[in-house]
Amino acid sequence: MNRRVDLRSDTVTQLTPAMREAMVSAVVGDDGYGEDPTVNALEERYASMVGKDAAVFVPSGVMANQIAVRVLTQPGDLVIAGRGQHVVSFEMGAAARNSSVQIVGIDDHLGTLALADVLEIIESEQDHQPHVSMVAIENTHMPSGGTVWDVADIEALCRAVGSRPVHLDGARLFNAVVASGTSAAQFAAPAATVMTCLTKGLCAPVGSLLAGSVDLMVRARIERKRLGGAMRQAGVVAAAGLVALDTMVERLAEDHARARALAEFFATAFPESKYDPARCRTNIVAFDHPQARQIVAELGALGVEGGTIAPQRVRFVTHAGVNDDDVNYVGEVLHNFTPSTS
Ligand SMILES: Cc1ncc(COP(=O)(O)O)c(C=O)c1O
Repeated sequence: MNRRVDLRSDTVTQLTPAMREAMVSAVVGDDGYGEDPTVNALEERYASMVGKDAAVFVPSGVMANQIAVRVLTQPGDLVIAGRGQHVVSFEMGAAARNSSVQIVGIDDHLGTLALADVLEIIESEQDHQPHVSMVAIENTHMPSGGTVWDVADIEALCRAVGSRPVHLDGARLFNAVVASGTSAAQFAAPAATVMTCLTKGLCAPVGSLLAGSVDLMVRARIERKRLGGAMRQAGVVAAAGLVALDTMVERLAEDHARARALAEFFATAFPESKYDPARCRTNIVAFDHPQARQIVAELGALGVEGGTIAPQRVRFVTHAGVNDDDVNYVGEVLHNFTPSTS
């Protein structure tokens, strides 16, 4: 059997020995009473990293996004978001189901939202269209290939939408931080709420965090309960989350360097995709190809495992479980690869 390089997602990461140790010795309590000191420490640590007053620990990134939508909207409102964003395309219609909102998905194929597109929808309120209560953005933006927003563009967007809150899906916010040198607090400052997953490049086993004002986070706790996401002695997993925030952020630079090397290999192997490897600034290689599913299947059979995120879009993701030898192996496989004709 060939070597197996798992590039399907950074969610396949294993927790580190330090995380396991921290979990074993975690001091815990009933978080329902606010008495789990490890959860409290994790929430405080994240809130301070993103420069917000308070944070809430939740089981998943989806729940963090869903709670944000719940606290920032009323049923019947419009939510503006990029059509490829997780909250639009990868949460099983949860925003409609949980919050009774209508999402307007706008073009985000380059990873960011054009101000003019956002403002056009807001202006349509004057022409009998529903109220726009919030805008959601994603940084890094997964489907476009881990694109990093320029903080000035986030600031301009937030200024332009005025009192309407912006939610920042920062599932991979620390990848953006490492790639750009902009701090998490700078990215989050103009947004009302920000969330980050501990379970992707940061390698923790469970959990995400949502942060914002004290008032919003009081309401977020109520919505977490409503969604069944309130936990009890959750310090046992929060302990791993603290290790993730404290020790795993800078390591992301290695994932970025390896993804960039892979990006060059893929661009050379599939010139017809017109993929520009310079677009790869974080840990995701994603490009369009008419034979996307076939490519993924045939590379998978050679031990290079990726995935499709749309019928004609392939994705390969680096993470802590991928080393330089793996990258070289992918390079060798791609050097000799041509998709069979179907
Ligand atoms: C951008 C983005 N937001 C949210 C999520 C949801 O995170 P989770 O899988 O923890 O629910 C993901 C997961 O892949 C993601 O990529």
